[in-house]
Amino acid sequence: MEYNFDEIIDRHDEKCRKWDRSIIEQEFGPIPDDFIPMWIADMDFRSPQGILDAFMKASQRGTFGYTYTYPEFYQTVVQWQKQQHQVDMDPEWITLGYGSVATMYNLVQQFCDATHGVMTLTPTYGPFGRCARENNVPVGTSPLILQANRYQIDWDDLEQKLQAQQPRLLFFCNPHNPSGRVWSPQEIERIAQLCLANGTIMVSDEVHSEHILHNGQHTSALTLPEQYLQNLIFLTSPNKVFNLGGLKTSYSIIPNAQLRERLRANYQKNSITSPNIFGITAIVAGYQTGNDWRRAMVNYVSRNYELAQQMLTDPRLQLIPMESSYLLWVRVSGFGVSGRTFTQELATQQGVILEPGTDFVADGEKFVRINLAMPRIQIQTALQRLNQFIEKRF
Ligand SMILES: Cc1ncc(COP(=O)(O)O)c(C=O)c1O
Repeated sequence: MEYNFDEIIDRHDEKCRKWDRSIIEQEFGPIPDDFIPMWIADMDFRSPQGILDAFMKASQRGTFGYTYTYPEFYQTVVQWQKQQHQVDMDPEWITLGYGSVATMYNLVQQFCDATHGVMTLTPTYGPFGRCARENNVPVGTSPLILQANRYQIDWDDLEQKLQAQQPRLLFFCNPHNPSGRVWSPQEIERIAQLCLANGTIMVSDEVHSEHILHNGQHTSALTLPEQYLQNLIFLTSPNKVFNLGGLKTSYSIIPNAQLRERLRANYQKNSITSPNIFGITAIVAGYQTGNDWRRAMVNYVSRNYELAQQMLTDPRLQLIPMESSYLLWVRVSGFGVSGRTFTQELATQQGVILEPGTDFVADGEKFVRINLAMPRIQIQTALQRLNQFIEKRF
């Protein structure tokens, strides 16, 4: 089937954060009218038709009563995890939540305290740190090492910090955000071993796992040996793959009944119970009908990445090769400015909005992140403007 990812959807009036001028200007200062936002991880593509049809059916019915996690939801998740990631699981392990970020906050509230917090591999996704800080819980950081343009884990540093700080949770991002680094089965198992040996629960955030580029292979933490599964909290949703972030619906998979009950108890305390009717509808419809669209979208994004590689040739732009996702991580310190200064000046002078690396937990100061999930013609225009900015400014 043919999909038209070249279609330009006018999102100015959608009130989405990515395209909202006042939100952008609060962050970057005044921007030109013809701005092109390439920051927040939100794709400018129409979601799969199967999801739109399911929404249409629901809205034509015109009634939006309280719903529940019906059997088809569990069956569909089990099938998707099997088909996409070769995971064998019990539907009982699944708990629906109100977004993976909200679940991180619940986990911190349930498992951490003022002494035993979270561990992160930095730079990493901002809310991994925010969920801890906003709950007065310490955030440990083990910096990743950029070797031959690819992030590697500093195993000695991580082990030493797990021993010394005794965090309750390790937020592992697989594939990693930022950079899209896909972790190998050996690396995942080593993380699981270290967590188990140090009394730290491994939280594997795999929300980007359905965007693997160049026929690469994602390994789900749910395929780990049994002893590690008993120490695992797995977070995901179709929010990234089908661009459904605004529905605020996700789910966790937790094989260990005790850990699962503790998260559910915290949900209960916060009345996180019946799902959003459109959220659960989209998970079922997307997983049942969206795989073809997903393949085509990943292919389209790969072509966008090739275009970016062809256009961004200034040697001071250090592109970190993208193994997954649609978010290109670029080191800009070769220009002698921080990622924050680079994004701010680019936004106000050329109207191209990039994510500054400072939005991530630690070690992102020298970087910017470029969202490539938009029609190719817009990428071309934006990257031409980025090159003009470099020419004029440096
Ligand atoms: C690693 C990671 N986890 C979670 C999320 C967001 O999850 P949710 O929208 O379900 O809260 C993102 C969004 O970009 C992400 O990059």
